[in-house]
Amino acid sequence: MKIFIDSADLEEIKAANSLGLLDGVTTNPTLIAKSGKAFAEVARSITALVKGPVSLEVTSIQWEGMLAEAHALRKHGDNVVVKIPMTADGLKAVKALSAEKIPTNVTLIFQPVQALLAAKAGATYVSPFIGRHDDIAQDGMLLVKDIVTMFRNYAVKTQVLVASVRHPIHVIESAKLGADVVTLPLKVIHQLIRHPLTDAGLKTFLADWEKVSNKSLT
Ligand code: E4P
Repeated sequence: MKIFIDSADLEEIKAANSLGLLDGVTTNPTLIAKSGKAFAEVARSITALVKGPVSLEVTSIQWEGMLAEAHALRKHGDNVVVKIPMTADGLKAVKALSAEKIPTNVTLIFQPVQALLAAKAGATYVSPFIGRHDDIAQDGMLLVKDIVTMFRNYAVKTQVLVASVRHPIHVIESAKLGADVVTLPLKVIHQLIRHPLTDAGLKTFLADWEKVSNKSLT
């Protein structure tokens, strides 16, 4: 399962990238606004820093505008994946971009058939938003399960990119279901690494090592 970071904050992306495990980046207009920087600057910096796919989102409502934006976004780098909202115009744009072999990520997916339609239009990735489902007392993981099952039934090549991830359980469940990608806030990446028993165990080992008179390892 690939791990992307869901962020437009360059310091966060650098921190995740330095772990050597980062496969890509997803952004959205909210994350760009949160970065406090100009979009072009953020896009240039991220695409230069990370070799893997970087999703940058269009903000046009109509498909013609989405296409124009997609071509402009791709100027930031060959690793740019054009993020398109799951709307009728979005599907038209995805179909056209797919014919041009421009990779796309269809975002804001909240029910399984939306994912099937996006795949039919030629999307490279579909992004089910699971945390936002959980927020309204619906089972976000069920959405991932249904999409993975449907894609397997029809040998669909579109990758399932689990988005709106809130905690490590979402990541574990995504991996168990066979999702292709999870995109994670830096906080969740750190939560995946740490365990209180690892910390406690290490503390004891180091304390006991201090009692050894000759600390040479050879
Ligand atoms: C994914 O591509 C989105 O940017 C993101 O995961 C949305 O997450 P949120 O629901 O925490 O805003």
